[in-house]
Amino acid sequence: MGETPTLLQTMEMPPRIAERLEGRYRIHHLWRAADPAELLADVGGAVRGALTMGHGKMDKDLIDALPNLEIITVLGVGYDGIDVKHAGGKGVPVTNTPDVLTEEVANLGVGLVLAVTREIPKADAYVREGRWPKGDMPLNRSIVGRPVGVVGMGRIGRATADRLTALGAKVSWHGPRPKPNVPYAYDPDLAHLADKVDGLVLCCPGGPATRHLVDKKVLAALGPEGWLVNVARGTVVDEQALVEALMARKIWGAGLDVFEFEPKVPQILFDLDNVVLQPHQASATRETRNAMADLVIANLDRHFAGQPLLTQVNG
Ligand code: 8YV
Repeated sequence: MGETPTLLQTMEMPPRIAERLEGRYRIHHLWRAADPAELLADVGGAVRGALTMGHGKMDKDLIDALPNLEIITVLGVGYDGIDVKHAGGKGVPVTNTPDVLTEEVANLGVGLVLAVTREIPKADAYVREGRWPKGDMPLNRSIVGRPVGVVGMGRIGRATADRLTALGAKVSWHGPRPKPNVPYAYDPDLAHLADKVDGLVLCCPGGPATRHLVDKKVLAALGPEGWLVNVARGTVVDEQALVEALMARKIWGAGLDVFEFEPKVPQILFDLDNVVLQPHQASATRETRNAMADLVIANLDRHFAGQPLLTQVNG
């Protein structure tokens, strides 16, 4: 590897990364810097690799502040915060961490579907608050034999659809185009799909192409019995429209792992019992985050050893 390569880490990341890179790389921490611009002016020229997260921000300006950048490694399958085109134009490869998190994210997605339809958090409160002896809780909702829509049929969408099918749901899906070898019915019109199904599970990528895909019209099509689960990106949903729909009970409920301006969550949601809130934790098990971290490290090590990358997104 020659001299110790200098890296820039833009966000807080699992400690395993720093532990495993220690002694082999010099790491500067952008988010900890009192004055990030000063840090970039001081060390930007030395930085050969960048470490960031799936929803992290690595825009044109930051890439340009690192004139000797050779690689951007993303801890996460999504890379909507990274200007991949600009990086590619400068010959900088970008890697992500697909596959190792697919099952985990799909599991939380399905967990949220059950939490919303079976009202698990609400039922927990019902017991704790001593309401059970006074009478049974109102009945909740089934997904067995019921139509459910999956938005996005990539790896996570497919794993989610397969799980929902195993639980008895009748899955159909929406995405930008139909795909071969998908055993689920495709609907090119999301509002039409929303009208047909009990609920939607969002598993698509973030970024400009899917911004506010779930808007007022889609929420209205879901209707007062419809529910929404989002394990994709907060930007996929018009959050203000969703908050209004939840407040006015224009939809049945929602399970949200991601938010448009996270970690800021609309305060008003804290008081609503028809929404289940998660802190963007779909991939956040020890096992999966370790596997993601190991893939980031493997890509870095391979790059600096002159070997082919494992999971380049702009190759
Ligand atoms: C992570 C994610 O929460 O993979 C993604 O795109 O959003 C999540 O797995 C995030 O990238 C932090 O590691």
